[in-house]
Amino acid sequence: MMDDKMKEKLGYNLKPGDKHYRAFVGPSNRFDVIGAMKFNLLTFLGLREHHFLLDIGCGSLPAGRLFIPYLLPGGYFGVEPERWLVEEGIENELGKDLITIKNPQIVYNSEFNFKNFKTQFDFVIAQSIFSHASSEQKGVMAATVDQIAEVIFKQGAKRSYKWSLEKAHKLKEAAERDPFIRNFF
Ligand SMILES: C[S@@+](CC[C@H](N)C(=O)[O-])C[C@H]1O[C@@H](n2cnc3c(N)ncnc32)[C@H](O)[C@@H]1O
Repeated sequence: MMDDKMKEKLGYNLKPGDKHYRAFVGPSNRFDVIGAMKFNLLTFLGLREHHFLLDIGCGSLPAGRLFIPYLLPGGYFGVEPERWLVEEGIENELGKDLITIKNPQIVYNSEFNFKNFKTQFDFVIAQSIFSHASSEQKGVMAATVDQIAEVIFKQGAKRSYKWSLEKAHKLKEAAERDPFIRNFF
């Protein structure tokens, strides 16, 4: 059983959104399982260690703490506006040695700007991002669909742009519905 001191350290006493690296990204007592669900889903769908993964809104690395050790060096890419979240995720969950060994690439912006990654992504994941975006970001979100389509089209699936755009729209709809979170809590 976890003692009270550990629960406090992990932010179990806090509300989702509070300024703690676990609470900020969701219920602290689900931090482990949310990351594990994403890891299980993508490995079930075929993610292998040699693949390249883009994690949009990677936060304090609830999933990154599983994906980063799994993927080969340079395989994990993240986009996150809150630099402190990533830093505390590394400090508390991964450790700097693993970062040196696995060399994840993380950029900090809220413009969904991941075009500069010159990488062919095999998987793109964006969980609980659109559903948590502010209303000011609606315009950015519309642009994002095109960007995701472009990533899938140019950098990944090598299918037609129409196919990629349809996939990107489905991704956005799924993110807005946020089925994992709704079903889980
Ligand atoms: C509810 S948390 C989810 C974190 C993580 N994806 C997960 O599933 O546990 C939402 C995350 O999206 C990030 N975020 C908010 N606006 C964003 C944007 N415009 N681009 C990328 N990430 C964003 C937040 O900083 C936060 O880390």
